[in-house]
Amino acid sequence: MSATRDQWRTAIAYGDKDSVVLRGYDLQELVGQVSFAEAWLLLATGELPPPGHAKLLDAMMVSVLDHGIVPSSVVTRYLASSGSPIQAAVAGGVMAFGDTYGGACEQLGEQLAAHVPEVRAGRETEPQAAEAIVKHFFATGRKVPGYGHALHPEGDPRVPHLYRIADANGVTGDFSRLAFEVQAELHRQKKRKLPMNQDGALGALGLDMGLDWRLLRALAFVPRSAGLAVHALEEMTREAGWRHVPDEEITYDGTPRRPLKRG
Ligand SMILES: CC(C)(COP(=O)(O)OP(=O)(O)OC[C@H]1O[C@@H](n2cnc3c(N)ncnc32)[C@H](O)[C@@H]1OP(=O)(O)O)[C@@H](O)C(=O)NCCC(=O)NCCS
Repeated sequence: MSATRDQWRTAIAYGDKDSVVLRGYDLQELVGQVSFAEAWLLLATGELPPPGHAKLLDAMMVSVLDHGIVPSSVVTRYLASSGSPIQAAVAGGVMAFGDTYGGACEQLGEQLAAHVPEVRAGRETEPQAAEAIVKHFFATGRKVPGYGHALHPEGDPRVPHLYRIADANGVTGDFSRLAFEVQAELHRQKKRKLPMNQDGALGALGLDMGLDWRLLRALAFVPRSAGLAVHALEEMTREAGWRHVPDEEITYDGTPRRPLKRG
């Protein structure tokens, strides 16, 4: 049955005078019995996940919880120092997650999600799919999202660690295999190591856990919101307030000062 424009419908949850029900389960039964990671995967996929998936998701969320003074926390701290409410400061920091910073998992995920069904159906081999993905980004002059890292040119150390946990918990699957094939194709084409970074691993593993590619950025901004809330508090309680950019860090290179001549 489809809803009309002025009706609301959801298959996620509902509440009535006695209970709240998530994907068919009474919230009271879930509370105390399932972890936050399991409950979120229940919301996102419609079913309680195998135990290994929640264990990996928990590890992934810890891995992105906080990275210190980075673009998202700088935005949060500016807002907190301006007197914005804590939720506005956190929301501002979350909005810093974009195609270049913190959001690369989505663009890679979209491509992996388009090609894995083709590979499964035998219409493409993994190397052909990887070549097509690299071509897709290079054709418009873009780098392949999810690979390379300015601080870790030899490889983002968080990636093998996450994959050790993913392998041990039976999560690593077709999406990750194709993501590593893309890494090999990049190596072949660029003749340099461009290992998968944390964003790439979040994207591939998120898909292996059954998430829709449009939800992948949540793997970064949901846990990071928790970190950003603490940054907002620290800014409010420990710093002087009203941050501004120091003059020596600002260059004005526009039109020199000139007189206003009118009439
Ligand atoms: C993260 C990133 C900005 C780090 O860049 P960097 O180490 O400073 O490397 P540079 O941008 O100087 O690039 C060096 C060379 O590697 C290439 N390169 C770097 N990352 C690449 C990628 N993901 N895909 C294709 N080529 C890449 C550059 O094109 C450049 O090649 P060239 O010398 O032929 O011009 C970069 O790898 C990138 O944009 N990756 C994609 C976005 C992404 O995954 N962001 C999340 C980061 S955690």
